[in-house]
Amino acid sequence: MAETSLYYKLGGQKAIKAVVEEFYRRMLEDELVNELFKGIDMNRLKAHQTAFLSYALGGPVEYDGRTLREGHKGLNITSEQYERMIRIMNDTLKTFNVSTDDRIKIESFLRSVKPFVVGH
Ligand code: HEM
Repeated sequence: MAETSLYYKLGGQKAIKAVVEEFYRRMLEDELVNELFKGIDMNRLKAHQTAFLSYALGGPVEYDGRTLREGHKGLNITSEQYERMIRIMNDTLKTFNVSTDDRIKIESFLRSVKPFVVGH
């Protein structure tokens, strides 16, 4: 049987929504990364939040938006900002009692897409 995705393991949509809210609350409070969200409309940000985490957790995303490379073009996200985001995600997941193993999986996923998001 296929391994249950983290999305379901963490409690499905309701739990993910709570994690997403907290993750973005922290992102928008962080001086190193919050400038990247200036001028981004809330609907966009919500879509971003959902895609961002559901992808990372292997949830049932029906994503037909732009590719990650397209979505971040012109933002010039730095490696330092990306690392900060990974830390904020990790801290947030800890708050929600996500296990070390599962946090490592999520971190690996986030690292795997880094080249599409950073530096362009
Ligand atoms: C430091 C890390 C990141 C920052 C600061 C960031 C920020 C942003 C911003 C500001 C946008 C909106 C661009 C626009 O409206 O023109 C965007 C788009 C997007 N981001 Fe991120 N992002 C990050 C990492 C990620 C990661 C890791 C994922 C997925 C796992 C992701 C998924 C997306 C998607 C799917 C879009 C496209 C949304 C669309 O085209 O409507 N982002 N990101």
